[in-house]
Amino acid sequence: MDKLHEQITKLREDFTKGTLSEKDVKQNPFEQFENWLAQAVESQVPEVQAMTLATASKEGIPSSRIVYLREFDNNQFWFYGNYQSRKAKQLAENPNASLSFFWPALERQIRIQGTVTKCTDAYSDNYFNNRPYESKIGSWASAQSSEVSSREELMQKVEELKKHFSADTIKRPEFWGGWILKANYYEFWQGRKSRLHDRIVYELEEGSWKIKRLNP
Ligand SMILES: Cc1cc2nc3c(=O)[nH]c(=O)nc-3n(C[C@H](O)[C@H](O)[C@H](O)COP(=O)(O)O)c2cc1C
Repeated sequence: MDKLHEQITKLREDFTKGTLSEKDVKQNPFEQFENWLAQAVESQVPEVQAMTLATASKEGIPSSRIVYLREFDNNQFWFYGNYQSRKAKQLAENPNASLSFFWPALERQIRIQGTVTKCTDAYSDNYFNNRPYESKIGSWASAQSSEVSSREELMQKVEELKKHFSADTIKRPEFWGGWILKANYYEFWQGRKSRLHDRIVYELEEGSWKIKRLNP
């Protein structure tokens, strides 16, 4: 274990793959996001659509987890999950949330902040209907974030649900659906040598985006 501690203390990457300048970025942060996302997809970054979603309770107790980005349009970012989960409870009492992406192969991080609302039933239905049957059953079976007595109990529920719902009849449960984060803040981070990274942020001021550079 001492070796592990030593390894962690000593691990050190220098970032050298790119630069980011206020002169090069798009004036619109959503276009900048699309630009970087396209480059990450092109570079075959693994799990490129995985993002950390941070939420907080009304008392400000934070909680974060990975979710998948499923749609994006005009400063809006969609993700899906269980409406009775821990994230759902926090989002219901405090709509402020943030998203972050880390794409090691490009030495890039993107942070996005905004407020979250549930998306329309039509969006949730459309997304749910296009999921594989097994994932649909999984959504019905999992009372996400609540305690389950054993793996066997969960799998038994899955088997019962498979008998109840065929691939043709299975519909989205009301307790499952999507949310949209509407962005009001973006940060684009490009790793640089000796920890002197580039950080370009966009803040909404009176309806227009203001671009600033932050210290690394
Ligand atoms: C790569 C990856 C992708 C995930 N995608 C989702 C997702 O799209 N929706 C979701 O609800 N949970 C997803 N999860 C599981 C969440 O991280 C988390 O365990 C779950 O949403 C329960 O979180 P909560 O108790 O804070 O609500 C994913 C986990 C990983 C590691």
